[in-house]
Amino acid sequence: MSLAGRRVLVSAGPTYEDIDPVRFLGNRSSGKMGFAVAAAAAARGAQVVLVAGPVHLPTPPGVARVDVRSAAQMHAAVLDALPADVYVGAAAVADYTPRTVAARKLKKRPGADTLALELVRTADILADVAAHPRRPRLVVGFAAETDELEHYARDKLVRKRVDLIAANRVGSADCPFERDDNTLHVFAADGAWTLGPAPKREVAEALLDLIARRLEADPA
Ligand code: CTP
Ligand code: CA
Repeated sequence: MSLAGRRVLVSAGPTYEDIDPVRFLGNRSSGKMGFAVAAAAAARGAQVVLVAGPVHLPTPPGVARVDVRSAAQMHAAVLDALPADVYVGAAAVADYTPRTVAARKLKKRPGADTLALELVRTADILADVAAHPRRPRLVVGFAAETDELEHYARDKLVRKRVDLIAANRVGSADCPFERDDNTLHVFAADGAWTLGPAPKREVAEALLDLIARRLEADPA
């Protein structure tokens, strides 16, 4: 199904939250799922902006890429890229970031066996996009869950006021991080779908089929 003329905004990859000039807090997101969604949307004729966390992946053909590092930078870049018809929040955004970034490399303190880092909550990009005056017609979130997948995914769907949540099971045999195959459990107020297991590009195509059908059913 074509996405010609649609503006699709995708966020992908991890974020890195700096602790000092040489250390950061990150996560294991490879960015591959979000990049696959961006590539597939561009191939369907959409105008795609991809806000990418720190990953070494090639930019898909026809995609406008904005590189960011931290959750705060990703938040700003995503909101700056609005308006869009669709937002797909596939990034694994840090939930917490160090309260301060040390200007110099932190040194071990003699005799100190422990170190406490004070972290503060980051802004929720997905919820802010969904509540934005220029809200895209379709807001799609991802969710990484180790257990009670449907319960937590549906909770995010309602709490963040998004249209679709694509949930991944993590920390299990089918853990998607750093892999090329994936299974997505997609939830909406009016249904549920299982996409895959299949290569991430095929899963991305199936997700875009769902998205394109919803855009056509509800033309603005
Ligand atoms: N997300 C976001 N901004 C954040 C945190 C999460 O935009 N600061 C988005 C992710 O891109 C994803 C969705 O929210 O689309 C769900 O992410 P997830 O980590 O599963 O959910 P959280 O709401 O952060 O809840 P928790 O980690 O406590 O399960
Ligand atoms: Ca989170």
